[in-house]
Amino acid sequence: MADLISGTQIATDIIEKELAPRVERLKKSGVVPKLVVVLVGEHPASAAYVRQKEKSAAKAGIESEVRRFEESISETELLEEIEKINTDNSIHGVIVQLPVPDHISVERILKTIDPLKDVDGFTAENVGKLFLGEDTLECCTPKGIIRMLEAAGETLEGKKVVVVGRSNIVGKPVAILALNRNATVTLCHSRTKNLEAETLQADILIVAVGKERMIGAKHVKPGATVIDVGMHRTEEGKLCGDVDFDEVENIAGKISPVPGGVGPMTVVSLIENTIEAAEAQKR
Ligand code: GUN
Repeated sequence: MADLISGTQIATDIIEKELAPRVERLKKSGVVPKLVVVLVGEHPASAAYVRQKEKSAAKAGIESEVRRFEESISETELLEEIEKINTDNSIHGVIVQLPVPDHISVERILKTIDPLKDVDGFTAENVGKLFLGEDTLECCTPKGIIRMLEAAGETLEGKKVVVVGRSNIVGKPVAILALNRNATVTLCHSRTKNLEAETLQADILIVAVGKERMIGAKHVKPGATVIDVGMHRTEEGKLCGDVDFDEVENIAGKISPVPGGVGPMTVVSLIENTIEAAEAQKR
């Protein structure tokens, strides 16, 4: 049976042992790190994610504010709200919770957010720096995945890492972060021929496709480490990931669960990025 990689436990440890003391130091120097979450319209999953972010921010001792806007807000008005946040020196980090309504362009939002306050790590400047291996605000889920692998005692150097899913916010950046740590990386996607042949090579398998339980026992090398980024609600109302946990836990060496795996690591990375942004803006 695989060892469980508990994102919940690792995230709690990071908040208590690393982030809270960093926040205390900032507060002593007169800076209270502040995160603003912009939420447009009513999206049930977004509302739940935003609550998690507020709870973790409070645990770390940073300030957080949710700015809620009607679904009908125009793109111009929303971009003006972002500009206000950009120029407000009391705010160190901002994210616009996705998805946003169809009449609003995510691209234009990301072109408006100040890269120094882009604690999601989604702007072209920050993604470019990550690609170049420069110090930057890194995308939260990829950063959280690397942290959880390290906390689970995994070294990446020389390992075969296979990523399934090529999204801009998880698959592509996590592949780059693993590559920057000297892993040999394969990035698979919906057009990959013979996916199983690729995933069976993985020492570390990272799955971020957004398809319920699509990775089963046949995809996993015995003893491999499996990280599941998916989050779905089954017909019976249970949460599950992109990995069929019941099948794969009998084969993998280590596995992250859903819920309680990558989710809390994403949130803790967001809080860490807000602290990093506040430290950088203080300088
Ligand atoms: N919606 C789902 N995940 C995320 C995330 O990491 N950042 C933002 N801004 N929106 C999301």
